[in-house]
Amino acid sequence: MVNKFSRIGFILAAAGSAVGLGNIWKFPYIAGEYGGGAFVLIYLVAILFIGLTVFLAEAVIGQNGQANVSTSFVVISKSKNPNWKLAGFMVATGLIVLSFYSVVLGWILNYVITSFDTLPTKAEIAGAKFENLISNDIGSLLIYHTLIAGSVVFIVLKGIKEGIEKINLILMPLLGLILIGLLIYAFTLDSFSQAVSFMFIPDFSKIDGNALLAALGQAFFTLSLGVGTILTYSASLPKKTNFVKSSFYVAAVDTTIAIVAGLIIFSFLFEAGAPSSAGPGLVFISLPVIFSGWGILGHIIAVSFFVALVFAGITSAVSMIEPALRFFIEIFKITRAKATIICGSTFYILGIVALLSMSKTYADELTFFGKNAFDIMDFMTSSVMMPIAAILTCVFLGYFVDKKLLEEKFLAHCSSSVFNTWYFLIRFVVPIAIVILLLNKLGAI
Ligand code: PHE
Repeated sequence: MVNKFSRIGFILAAAGSAVGLGNIWKFPYIAGEYGGGAFVLIYLVAILFIGLTVFLAEAVIGQNGQANVSTSFVVISKSKNPNWKLAGFMVATGLIVLSFYSVVLGWILNYVITSFDTLPTKAEIAGAKFENLISNDIGSLLIYHTLIAGSVVFIVLKGIKEGIEKINLILMPLLGLILIGLLIYAFTLDSFSQAVSFMFIPDFSKIDGNALLAALGQAFFTLSLGVGTILTYSASLPKKTNFVKSSFYVAAVDTTIAIVAGLIIFSFLFEAGAPSSAGPGLVFISLPVIFSGWGILGHIIAVSFFVALVFAGITSAVSMIEPALRFFIEIFKITRAKATIICGSTFYILGIVALLSMSKTYADELTFFGKNAFDIMDFMTSSVMMPIAAILTCVFLGYFVDKKLLEEKFLAHCSSSVFNTWYFLIRFVVPIAIVILLLNKLGAI
């Protein structure tokens, strides 16, 4: 088959999707905010019992549906009720996430370029530089967003095998090499052992309900769940491939990279005596100042670090658009090129709205209910649409798909105790956990 992944291609592509800004930018700063070790422990539990459960759910639907999200739901449902097509709403989520993800990748690309010759020497300068980029420099933002969006479109136009599989085959090993290089450097610093203690010795005093929900939300985002990505990638997985093992590998790679990114970043921060709880500005403000104190080596490390972020982000970005592409191609029977033009221009334009909404000039016009368009897109997707899609997926598999069918698919690759645990989690534990997450995000609890 031309347009199918090989097994290793799937693992790389799904890992490429999972490993993204969520691992290298977001995970360290939330772990930092919630005090390190204890948060990491809770996060690991959330990945293993909740994230992986939904990952396996999307994989089993995709691999057996062998089609876009809508069709796959209908095909494997007990009733074949066409209303299951509505599950296809999640492909829109991917496009919305992609629109602001592309903007953030644009900021990072800007940091790659500027880190070659200047690095801010003080936190105030770094803060002002970042602030100026996102709120004044519309020209640069447009150029970088266009470059990222253009690359995503260029890659996905070529299809699964020639586009997505190939780019992952190139970028994932390069990302691995850069991270290993940075880890080795971090290891030579005195602060490395401090970073290890910070990440692995739990201090439960900072853990509250919010920390639990943050860990849960992060587990979903980092495994690319709730937007149809894993489902759609699995739909290009040959039917015989061991999806259980592949899913475990992907979760393991994703988690390892998050931990490695945390060790690197905390070693750097502690070496400079900087706090671990700098929030989202951690990589844009705190790190560049630290790099600036390391002379020429600092420039090399800064550029490598931001390049790693771009590589990680691009392989995630292509996976956000793919569910919508497959949906358009199969449901509206159009070519890949046409689908790419439609979906590409949608996320590109939404991205422009997002970036303008953060600028001083257009903030007023693009702020609604006290939130700018960028934050609204972020909130609607990660706090509302993604959890709803995940709940729907669990309830669907737990109650509307023949248990025998699932059992047969799982037992071909794993023991019955693994299957029974998964089935219990998907029917009872995970939906309840996500409903709580959703209600909390909506401010109801
Ligand atoms: N998992 C990616 C990250 O950690 C984000 C992502 C979300 C990718 C949803 C695809 C779909 O950055």
